[in-house]
Amino acid sequence: MNLYTRRELLRFLAVSGATGWAASHLGFLINDGRAASPLMSQGGALDFSLAAQAGRLSLAGRRAALYGYNGSVPGPRLEIRPGDQVRIRFANRLPEPTNLHFHGLHVSPGGNADNVFLEIPPGESQIYEFSLPQDHRGGTFWYHPHIHHLIARQLWAGLAGLLIVRGPLDDIPEIQEAHEESLVLKDFELDADGNLLTPDPTPQIMQGREGDLVLINGEFNPTFPLPKDGLLRMRFLNASVARFYRLQLEDHPMYLIATDSGPIDEPFESRELLLTPGERAEVLIRGERPPGRYRLMNLPYRRFNMGMMGMRGGRGMREGRSMASEEPVVLATVQYRESGRSLPLPTRLVPVEPLARATGARQLVFSHGMMHGEGMAFTINGRTFDPERTDAIVKLGSVEEWEIVNGGGMMMAFDHPFHIHTNTFQVLNQNGKSPPFQAWKDTVNVPMGESVRVRIPFQDFPGRTVYHCHILDHEDLGMMAVVEMRA
Ligand code: C2O
Ligand code: CU
Ligand code: CU
Repeated sequence: MNLYTRRELLRFLAVSGATGWAASHLGFLINDGRAASPLMSQGGALDFSLAAQAGRLSLAGRRAALYGYNGSVPGPRLEIRPGDQVRIRFANRLPEPTNLHFHGLHVSPGGNADNVFLEIPPGESQIYEFSLPQDHRGGTFWYHPHIHHLIARQLWAGLAGLLIVRGPLDDIPEIQEAHEESLVLKDFELDADGNLLTPDPTPQIMQGREGDLVLINGEFNPTFPLPKDGLLRMRFLNASVARFYRLQLEDHPMYLIATDSGPIDEPFESRELLLTPGERAEVLIRGERPPGRYRLMNLPYRRFNMGMMGMRGGRGMREGRSMASEEPVVLATVQYRESGRSLPLPTRLVPVEPLARATGARQLVFSHGMMHGEGMAFTINGRTFDPERTDAIVKLGSVEEWEIVNGGGMMMAFDHPFHIHTNTFQVLNQNGKSPPFQAWKDTVNVPMGESVRVRIPFQDFPGRTVYHCHILDHEDLGMMAVVEMRA
């Protein structure tokens, strides 16, 4: 375990920023552009090697200087089951510290499990180990680095991968029969030589960096097959640093079957799906329209208001770009194929028990402002992140009701997706309205000027972990805090 001071981290940033992303780094690597094959647990265990490395990787038909896990962007897809023992022999071949976080998993936040306070220095290794509880929910989870001040940059450079937990939803006959695809949504921005552009501190980093190359699984407008009269199951992960996705499939409703942290009671029909950074969702699409090609669109969404700042120009303000795009963008294409048999929508999925009552309450105000000696800072209850300070102490076994208030100012306001580690929650209401269905989540958007109330059961694992805004530039600018679960 190695703790870096802020100054050392800033020095790492300066060094690697000056030399660019690519060839001078240790562990240089070239991939062949093929997606890594999934790694699945066998006989109750998943044991594998994972290296974070810089290199020239193939991205949407171009060579790009990126960071990848085992040479691929996104990283290899992992598939495990409740009760599995997971062991990862992790090597840091980056020129800077990194670590691993298992977003959404209900596992221990301590030791060498899902411990975000671990820092693996460049050139060193760490064995990560945890066991997934027998009663863990199935769902779409993911892994990514979690070093404060470096998270946004390392994700931006390509470090993220899916972690799928199989469960009861997968055993429902119609869902078993459905054609399944995973879609990792991630934006990049490259210069002519394939180097990642470094965003400007103001306004790009302040608003959360977005790139103009919006890819799915590292590909530009990939095609997914939709069985005629059958079902396509799509798992979405928003692995972007800051970009929101408002997804819509031409002429087809989406039937939501699972949110961040597991399945819902029954399919929920909707025309569009908002996915903020860190969120996941699973939908079914029915092949019930005339066979052909249909576009999966990303519709405009305004996730911040920069007031006067927006007038100032600069690289981040090029027309219709970092402004979270004013026009719909095509992300992928769904193409009908013959299936030979018809498949109905399932009617029941997996029950979600509502949390009856809370035993404690607290309020978190997400805000921003100029901080002495730190410039623009993003805060929770007026403070920036300090790994040594514990901001909330909760009793193991309790259920707390947290109200997250978006306290953004008049001139500048941002949506902030709230995320907590280790335990998941149910949303009670969003700005006074209760959600249309009950769901387990670990990430929820708190829009500008609004508030969200959630109930969080703190179960099974004592220890310290974090909650934060999942616009990772905001997190790196301080919008993170420590919660300690005490037995
Ligand atoms: Cu997806 Cu604290 O992280
Ligand atoms: Cu997380
Ligand atoms: Cu934020």
